[in-house]
Amino acid sequence: MLEVTALPLSELRLRTSEKWGEYPDDVLPLFVAETDFPLAPAVQEVLRRAVETGDTGYVSSRNPLAEAYAGFARRRFDWEVDPSRLRSTADVSMGIVEILRRVVQPGERVVVTPPVYPPFYDLVEEAGAEVERVPLRDTGTSWELDLDGIRAAFADGARAILLCNPHNPTGTVHERDALAALAELAAEFEVAVVSDEIHAPLAQPGTGFTPFLSVSDAARKTGYAVVSASKAFNLAGLKCALMVSADDETTAVLRGLPIEVVWRTGQLGLRAAVAAFSEESDAWLDGLLRTLDRNRVLLEDLLAAHLPGARYRIPDAGYLAWIDVSALDLGEAPARRILKDARVALNAGDAFGPEGEGHVRFNFGTSPEIITEAVERIAALVRR
Ligand SMILES: Cc1ncc(COP(=O)(O)O)c(C=O)c1O
Repeated sequence: MLEVTALPLSELRLRTSEKWGEYPDDVLPLFVAETDFPLAPAVQEVLRRAVETGDTGYVSSRNPLAEAYAGFARRRFDWEVDPSRLRSTADVSMGIVEILRRVVQPGERVVVTPPVYPPFYDLVEEAGAEVERVPLRDTGTSWELDLDGIRAAFADGARAILLCNPHNPTGTVHERDALAALAELAAEFEVAVVSDEIHAPLAQPGTGFTPFLSVSDAARKTGYAVVSASKAFNLAGLKCALMVSADDETTAVLRGLPIEVVWRTGQLGLRAAVAAFSEESDAWLDGLLRTLDRNRVLLEDLLAAHLPGARYRIPDAGYLAWIDVSALDLGEAPARRILKDARVALNAGDAFGPEGEGHVRFNFGTSPEIITEAVERIAALVRR
């Protein structure tokens, strides 16, 4: 079985992207959603070849990305995607904005489900719309969509919902039944569902990840998915994502996007994504999932041992942990205090919405040593 192991600290410190470039060397950076693993071998190989041959121009309209994604969706999610209904763009954020621009009029409302990936608020505004917040329901053991609240928002005129599936920051894989119920509501009120599925390749086996568009005819009629290899394969800087539709009307919306939206796809990102989505990379992705599975459990063990006041539920997907640190006496801005006095950079929970107060988001897409050191540093601060 293929082992995927994080790079050593000495090599990570040579990286210049946001995660390793933002803070001085005494800080352990566990904030932005980048990972500390080497690139998958097939991805390394295509990028090397592209550099050797100077294959760094614009993306060709005759490229294999849509077919590669359709193969990935079939193998990994048992989901049949029609490649002719896909359109690429630079990143998931851009895909979301471009779709929202076409499905909502200026000033209309788009539902988001906080605590949620902070840029969602900005993306809705960038599309000229307004945010309507319908927080996730915390059941005490999991988080779920508040379908009654969503129904009320739709009945009150919201025109779209921006779904995060799996959800960032809680790592929740939404239940198939909840997605089916959401699709029914969307069809009833003629609301568009934009499903951000960027973390989907990182859903752990057995968690039952369901692509929104695979749920029902109602979902296919109302929905768009925006997907990318960028989180699982750490390719965010290469700029490639896909917008997916599954119905003639929604496909017409994607086909009606200005051609410039597609032209913004990064050529290196496209080549890397094709390699990432290919069958050749499946064993690597499985290895990564096993590593992340161990890390999510390690974090639970470390918190129980060193920070028993912290509350954390093992996420279904991804490498982001949502931790309630409100009982740790770290003041009003725990992430700031942890950065200043423990030299660990986490995301502040309140950036995800007021529901995130007293929380931090911890990126465990790294080595067990760094995770351990980070928790020990925070524990030392709490003991002080
Ligand atoms: C849920 C979610 N959507 C979108 C993004 C950003 O993706 P992109 O860089 O492709 O715009 C992230 C990044 O972490 C994310 O977590």
